[in-house]
Amino acid sequence: MENSNEQNPLNNQTKASLPIGIFDSGVGGLTVYRALHNRLPNEHFIYLGDTARVPYGTKSLATVERYAIENAEFLASHGIKILVVACNTASALALPKIREKIGIDVVGVIGPGARKAVAMTRDRQNETNQKIAVIATEATVSSNAYALSIHQAEETAVVYQTACPLFVPLAEENWTKEPETVSIAKKYLEKIKEFQPDALVLGCTHYPILREVIQQTVGENVTLIDSGEACAEEVEQLLDFKELKNPQKIEGERTLCDDLDHFYVTDAAERFARVAERFLGSQPAKLEAIELY
Ligand code: DGL
Repeated sequence: MENSNEQNPLNNQTKASLPIGIFDSGVGGLTVYRALHNRLPNEHFIYLGDTARVPYGTKSLATVERYAIENAEFLASHGIKILVVACNTASALALPKIREKIGIDVVGVIGPGARKAVAMTRDRQNETNQKIAVIATEATVSSNAYALSIHQAEETAVVYQTACPLFVPLAEENWTKEPETVSIAKKYLEKIKEFQPDALVLGCTHYPILREVIQQTVGENVTLIDSGEACAEEVEQLLDFKELKNPQKIEGERTLCDDLDHFYVTDAAERFARVAERFLGSQPAKLEAIELY
């Protein structure tokens, strides 16, 4: 499990009532927020989308590390019990540095996504060809983080990775069905179709927004693995293990983006709210634009 432990001065009960911090370069982390919210309805969330500096996937290691640390420190300063790095690029490049800087548990998306893909190929038993494809940003693919993590879980797995950089702006625009998106998906995913994997890891948290078009392009036989869903499962396990689930039951029905969750962006709050509404069904009740640097 991707987490780090440091001493925390708060007692467990006080700590358990703190929110969960989540960050991404933009709207992609909303896919992780949704998975966490569905799984953990008694938790409160603080979400940071670094919309002023998106995309991260085409930037250098030093830059992604710097951005990721600034995001993590901002969320840590708001008093969170756990940090979810809802960005594959930051998880692939900056997790060790983030852990060094903040004294709370950190969960990324790469390890959970890789383990889920391996478990899925195992479930296929005799029908598995142990082929796992990964689509991600250029920075995540170059880091080789997915291949390393998959091979840690299954040495004999065959991994094919490809970068799909245009998927990030298409997701940010919420162009989920446009003909341009369909033809870009065909071009990017052609080699993956030929590779015929058991599983395709959506190794960028923006990609589940384009899930339908990706599934149609690669065919129904390929199981899509959402690294955000996998991450949410591991966050729940970690909270159970540490007895850090919020003990206070939230009365009434929780909805996505209700006023118990706080959203911050570094630019273009209105645009973020529009995409959030189309993707999650409602605009964040609490949304603020901030300057981080
Ligand atoms: N959503 C992010 C990821 O999971 C980053 C996309 C980007 O900023 O390039 O990699």
